[in-house]
Amino acid sequence: KDTYLKFFESKGHKIIPSAPVIPENDPTVLFNTAGMQPLVPYLKGEPHPEGTRLTDVQKCFRTNDLDEVGDKTHHTFFEMLGNWSLGDYFKKESIEWSFELLTKQLNIPVERLAVTVFKGNDIVPADIESAKLWMAQGIPEERIAFLGEDDNWWPNMELTGPCGPDTEIFYWRSDEEIPANFDTENENWVEIWNNVFMQYMHNPDGTFTPLKNKNVDTGMGVERVTAILEGQTDNYKSSIWKDIIAKIEEVSGKKYDDEKYTKFMRIIADHIRAVVIILGDDAKIMPSNKDQGYILRRLIRRTIRYAKQIDIAIDSDWEQELAKLVIDEYKTYYKELERNKEFILDALKNEKTKFNRTLEKGLREFEKITKNIQTNSIDKDTAFKLYDTYGFPIELTCELAEEKNLIINGIIPVFSIVFTGTGNKIMIDLSFQQAVMQILVHIQEEITFSTIDNDSQIAILYLINLIDNGMIIPYFLVRFIFSQ
Ligand code: SER
Repeated sequence: KDTYLKFFESKGHKIIPSAPVIPENDPTVLFNTAGMQPLVPYLKGEPHPEGTRLTDVQKCFRTNDLDEVGDKTHHTFFEMLGNWSLGDYFKKESIEWSFELLTKQLNIPVERLAVTVFKGNDIVPADIESAKLWMAQGIPEERIAFLGEDDNWWPNMELTGPCGPDTEIFYWRSDEEIPANFDTENENWVEIWNNVFMQYMHNPDGTFTPLKNKNVDTGMGVERVTAILEGQTDNYKSSIWKDIIAKIEEVSGKKYDDEKYTKFMRIIADHIRAVVIILGDDAKIMPSNKDQGYILRRLIRRTIRYAKQIDIAIDSDWEQELAKLVIDEYKTYYKELERNKEFILDALKNEKTKFNRTLEKGLREFEKITKNIQTNSIDKDTAFKLYDTYGFPIELTCELAEEKNLIINGIIPVFSIVFTGTGNKIMIDLSFQQAVMQILVHIQEEITFSTIDNDSQIAILYLINLIDNGMIIPYFLVRFIFSQ
């Protein structure tokens, strides 16, 4: 992080602090999901108080990857390094400096690099200029791939707002011989950095108009680059996670390399870091049943559940120790963590105590139910009872059922959540469009509307109606419904 920020400082950039992970002025999303998000007003043309060249490391959080956490590469919270030109430099400097940082500061041999550039569409011609600039740096032509909108346009053609073609930089991560030609399908080539040439506004009426300025927006994921540079294919084995994993090993007495525990430890490590960062924001969000508080609650509950799986004594101070470690590691960049330390630790402890009681009762009940069932399914009324009588979260019932290869029949629990939560507003940072798309994809590809039972048909229509009325449906609920 230091190497990156100092490098761009030496090129006239002002180092600005990360914006909060909870957006300050954007009610349409619950979390900042990319480095550029807090800078949108400036990309649109508003002058930034710190000038036209900026660099930062931004706290980002993505809920759509939540279910994937546990493998080698997914995280909910992550850090994104970026450098920005607000109508200042453009392609030439952007490409030259990216190349310089990678090859001179991070000492990556040029043989290990390849790039993609935009191949053009109706709006913008092929980005020959970027390709030539890369070649001038020493990237051979056969290591430059021209790709279309799906790969080299940011954010994507459907979303409105500032956008533009991009050029992405790839790194050959394997010990195998590096092929002369860059084949983007080869998984040994991994993307490490994205330089977006933000020069268009995608308007709600579908048109693209030039922005006031030609901007540069770049993004480099810290976790991925660190693992790659350290030669690790498992992100959680990089130096970023070393102390956190070691602490989890210490409080559990288990080993990360023991396959029985690896996944659980990754989830705990990811979630505790995310929880500390979210609680650490000056917005002081508390665990609750709505919006960011709901995500926070879910993360804490999952952390506790997986802590149980690796035999951590829940009543001990394990979560305080872990949280303190995260605060210490991240407070240099995110000063608010020190300021809000007490709040973070108290909130975590209170939620743990509360949930632990629910969990004990619910798990006992779940075990009782599943011990006696003859089929591979739990009926919807039982799942609902766990939620209604024992306060057992429905997503936990789903996860436990999945672990035991059980299906939950029916859709009633989902309705219950919608109706009996705090009002009927459960939101996560899944956009309206994405939610609709998720539903349509499921309807079209996985099930035929006419072949599913009546209850589910009503549920789908009901969901679509809710979405039409502006409700954002959490992804896991959608998934849950359609897994029936
Ligand atoms: N906005 C681009 C991204 O998030 C570059 O920062 O990948």
